[in-house]
Formats: sequence, structure tokens, C-alpha cells
Amino acid sequence: MNSGLAISGLHKRFGDVRALSGVDLHVDEGQLIGFLGPNGAGKTTTMRAILGLTSLDAGTISWNGRPISVDDRAQIGYMPQERGLYPGMRVHEHIAYIGRLAGLDNAVAKRRANEWAERVGLDGRSNDAIQELSTGNQQRVQLAVALVHEPKLLVLDEPFAGLDPVAVAMLSDVMTEQVQKGVSVVFSSHQLELVQDLAENVTIIADGKTQASGRVTELRAQSPYRLLDIVWSGPAPDFSPIGATELPTVHGTRRWQLLASSDPGSIIAEAAQAGAIASVSYQPPGLEDVFLELVSS
Ligand SMILES: Nc1ncnc2c1ncn2[C@@H]1O[C@H](COP(=O)(O)OP(=O)(O)O)[C@@H](O)[C@H]1O
Ligand SMILES: [Mg+2]
Repeated sequence: MNSGLAISGLHKRFGDVRALSGVDLHVDEGQLIGFLGPNGAGKTTTMRAILGLTSLDAGTISWNGRPISVDDRAQIGYMPQERGLYPGMRVHEHIAYIGRLAGLDNAVAKRRANEWAERVGLDGRSNDAIQELSTGNQQRVQLAVALVHEPKLLVLDEPFAGLDPVAVAMLSDVMTEQVQKGVSVVFSSHQLELVQDLAENVTIIADGKTQASGRVTELRAQSPYRLLDIVWSGPAPDFSPIGATELPTVHGTRRWQLLASSDPGSIIAEAAQAGAIASVSYQPPGLEDVFLELVSS
């Protein structure tokens, strides 16, 4: 487990505020990790520490098995939560400018600026000043700026915040492409349904401490509960199985919560006797429920 980013035991205080008190996070080469936690959990502080923008009281951050260096940090693409673009600069100028700062020569920086402007869906806006763009389009520029120097590690702090569905799809595609090229990607998000679709692996923090890490499917399977959804072909019959708690009906689908240890087969058989069944689903709770169980305990 020596490749990629390894973070262990991060501690950080700001005066009386304990921002981090035991953050562990691992992002393998070519892996995508969703970094989840409630507001104030310490996600931004952790990401700033990766970039060397926050000093630490304790803990280690290493890249490919060695303490992360200034040169390694130059290979990071970072999208800060507080976006920072120059309002008067034009889109392609801005992307090229950041590329040159990252060490690209002028011609390469210009070529990549055009390529990235197009890739993030701003080809028609290349000559617009940043301040003329909508917030969503400024975020597209911020993404292009993070990628122009072809980083090996992408650190994206709430990259989906404020994006419309078209931009969400574009960003998801770009992230997936980067991972396929072997880039390590860590992104923070509150949009858990989106995370569940995009990231196979997550790390969940609360109160400055890592609470859980692993595959979304495994974390969901560890829940002590299961959800049983039933739709009947005709009107829903009077049906209240023993040992199951009914949850609110959603769009005609009736839902019960059961213990993972109980057998859904007998309940489904009983439901089929009550009326013809149109569909049944039995699954662990979604990432959002797992998240709420972890951060409230
Ligand atoms: N520069 C700072 N000075 C004082 N407190 C800070 C500073 N930066 C972050 N904090 C505090 O540290 C905690 C973690 O913040 P942050 O990392 O921004 O959380 P998140 O990104 O998960 O919402 C919060 O309580 C926040 O108020
Ligand atoms: Mg934050």
C-alpha cells in the first residue's frame, strides 16, 4: 500500500478549536475517493494540509511511500472550496497563466488552455472575462485550472457545489477519465446520492476524526438494517408483517425496515398471499443512512 496518498493521524488546532483529531485517508494510484463529513468536520483543513497550506500539530502525509515534498505538491491539481480566480482575466488566458505558473512553456500552456476550455464546456466563452461568467461557469474554469498541468493527484473541495446537472455530468466524466489515466482523485461532497453513484470508495469523517473508510457497498452491508420495498399490482392490501417497521410510502412503493439478521423470504411470501406483487426490492440502506448512523453515534 505504498502508492498514492497516505494520510495518517492528522491533528490540528486553531486556538481552542480542535479542527482535526485523528484523520486517516488513503488514496491509491488511480483511485477515486469520496471524502464525506458534516459541515465543520475537517474536510477543507485536511485538503489544505495535503497542499501544504495548513501546518499540522501531528500526523503524516506521504506520497508514494515518502513524506510529501514541494515537488510532489507541484503535481497536485487543487480546486479550493473558496474559489480563487482573477475576475478580470479571460478564460483561456487564465487557464494558460496557471499552466505557466505550474511550469509549462507558453505554447503548451496555450494549447492546453484551449483543450481544457473545450473539455469543460466553455469553448464559446474563451474570450470572456471571468467576472462575466455565471458561478457555474467560473467553476468550470476552476476545474480546468486544476487540470492544466496534468496532475497526478486531484484534490477537489466540494467540486459539485452549485453546478447544474449538465455540469455535474461533465465533472463526473472528467473525474472518471482522470482515474482511468491513473490519477488519484479525492473529492469532498455533501451530495451523497451523487457520491454513491460516482465513488466506489469513501472515507467518512466527523469531529475531525475518520469514522469509516472503505467500499460503499461494504459500508452499506455493515448496517444492521435492510430495506424491503414492495409494490402490489392492484391497490396495496392491508399488510403489516411482524418484526418489520413500516417507513413512509414513496410514490406508491411501500417500504419496511428489517434487521439484517431477519429473513425477508417469509415476509415476501406473506405479501404475495395478500395480493399480486408487481415488484420487490431488498437492500441495505443507502449511503446517506450509513453516513447519518456514523456521524450521529
Ligand atoms: N483558519 C481557521 N481558524 C479557526 N478555525 C478554523 C480555521 N479553519 C477551520 N477552522 C475550524 O476547524 C473546523 C473544521 O473546519 P473545515 O476543515 O473547514 O471543515 P469542513 O470543510 O469539513 O466543513 C471547524 O470547526 C472550523 O470552524
Ligand atoms: Mg469545507
